[in-house]
Amino acid sequence: MGTKTHIYQAPETLFRQCARRILELAASTLQTQDYFHIALAGGTTPRALYQQLSRLHSEEFPHWDRVRFYFGDERNVPPDHQQSNYRMVRESLFQPLQIKDSAIQRIRGELSPEEAVSHYRQALEQLPQENGTARFDLVLLGIGADGHIASLFPNTPLLQEQQQGIGASYVDKLECWRYSLTLPVLNNARHIIMLVSGAKKADVVRHVFHGPGTAEPLPVQMLDHDKVEWYLDADAARFLDEECEA
Ligand code: 6PG
Repeated sequence: MGTKTHIYQAPETLFRQCARRILELAASTLQTQDYFHIALAGGTTPRALYQQLSRLHSEEFPHWDRVRFYFGDERNVPPDHQQSNYRMVRESLFQPLQIKDSAIQRIRGELSPEEAVSHYRQALEQLPQENGTARFDLVLLGIGADGHIASLFPNTPLLQEQQQGIGASYVDKLECWRYSLTLPVLNNARHIIMLVSGAKKADVVRHVFHGPGTAEPLPVQMLDHDKVEWYLDADAARFLDEECEA
């Protein structure tokens, strides 16, 4: 598959090594660009990663003022809601590192789908563009057990969006609206890191790496595999043949 895979025995090691890789990409990008543009993942897994990143502040990466933070997706909730991805990142990364609000472009989950999408469309226009599409230096993603990425869920119209970089999707099984970057933007990124932890993800990881190929590819399988670096712990990777790195 030509996919770069990093597997670590312990989740703590996974998060630390993934944090180091993010900072390595940021440092190399900043040698030729003024800013490093990252789209952050939501959910529960990345909280520990963000906490690791905030601990690597001074000694390993003194350039946080040159990072511009975006979000891969958001729930239709206010920014202080328990379910808000922005709230999770604010608590685990932005506050510890004292990131300025001007460096953060959150998806306005408190707004209606039309308003939230319109606002974020303008935010994406401020990014460097490539192929007429916003170009992130790095997109960080998690994966759902159903193979969803960001808020691109199987069998939803937003998965097929090829023009707009951001969209809204009513997710029946969650009975809520979700806002998400679309595949054209995700696949336009220079790098994609997929962060996966825990035994609950082992089946979907096996499906991605070893099939069976389903008639409809899972959302995660619609990513540009050459750009994806997989960071997994041993529980999530238990059906893979690749060796653990530590
Ligand atoms: C979200 C995320 C979503 C997440 C997966 C995995 O808003 O929930 O962006 O795509 O990455 O659902 O979530 P967990 O990390 O909680 O397993």
